[in-house]
Amino acid sequence: MADLTVNIAGVAFKNPVIAASGTFGFGREYNEIFDIKKLGGISCKGMTLLEKTGNPPPRIAETPSGILNSIGLQNPGVEHFIKYDLPFLAKKDVVIIANTAGSTVEDYCKMAERLSETDIHMVELNISCPNVKEGGVAFGTSCESAAGITKEVRKYCKKPLIVKLSPNVTNIGEIAQAVEAEGADAVSLINTLTGMRIDIRSRRPILKNNIGGMSGPAVFPVAVRMVWEVSKRVKIPVIGMGGISKWQDAVEMMLVGAAAVQVGTAMFHDAYAPVKIIEGLEKYLVDNKLESFSELTGKVQAW
Ligand SMILES: Cc1cc2nc3c(=O)[nH]c(=O)nc-3n(C[C@H](O)[C@H](O)[C@H](O)COP(=O)(O)O)c2cc1C
Repeated sequence: MADLTVNIAGVAFKNPVIAASGTFGFGREYNEIFDIKKLGGISCKGMTLLEKTGNPPPRIAETPSGILNSIGLQNPGVEHFIKYDLPFLAKKDVVIIANTAGSTVEDYCKMAERLSETDIHMVELNISCPNVKEGGVAFGTSCESAAGITKEVRKYCKKPLIVKLSPNVTNIGEIAQAVEAEGADAVSLINTLTGMRIDIRSRRPILKNNIGGMSGPAVFPVAVRMVWEVSKRVKIPVIGMGGISKWQDAVEMMLVGAAAVQVGTAMFHDAYAPVKIIEGLEKYLVDNKLESFSELTGKVQAW
């Protein structure tokens, strides 16, 4: 039996595969398909202080090997999560990551403080959502604002803090370093890449929000490059995501420096994708006589 466990910022994961925020809700629906405790962790749908209905539809457009979404952080609000979803998840023996978003730094701080009193294991600061008018990605696109919000939230967050980075920047390595310096315990990347599609008959954008965030296999090489760049710049653990759809992708992501991976859009095509990835990773460890994933993380031999 291979040892699939990984430790990120002091939190033990039974395996390195995490459901990506916004693609797994709070786990209830997928739990009808497979036992979600098979996963290493679940990053819950991005939460805000108060309930949000999100953007008007259409909010999803297909792209070659991917999708564009402009959900706009539809969620029931943090108190609803704590009351109704957390008790369900807490029974599942899976690392629970609360993904948080807000329009102001105070929103993020209040949520971190409130969630710190609960049974969640980690907070993932979403400063990279491209689909909301205020806040979201605005905090994640400069070193100053990313560092500033991390510093403030750090004061209130008593749980390990993951900062989720935006790929819609010129130098993602610099931003990772800036949040590490202000106390981030880990970084996760990438969130979606901004994109746009047009309906040529109506001559209107397909998405009502005009633009959206792109994800799925098409973004995978961009994500690998960014995880590689970030891993070279920081000492804290890196959680890699963006287009992972099979175990081989997860191995690639770990070779460039990811300690764990998140899987999102792939589940819209095959709900069992994360389970198959866990099985594939286990076989890979055995076949290659590796004792743990630490023998894989960051072991790419770049030219
Ligand atoms: C429909 C949808 C909703 C998403 N909602 C969130 C969210 O609430 N918070 C967040 O941090 N990321 C959100 N994301 C981004 C994903 O967590 C992930 O970073 C991105 O999709 C890249 O991974 P993937 O290609 O495996 O999906 C969302 C993605 C999709 C497709």
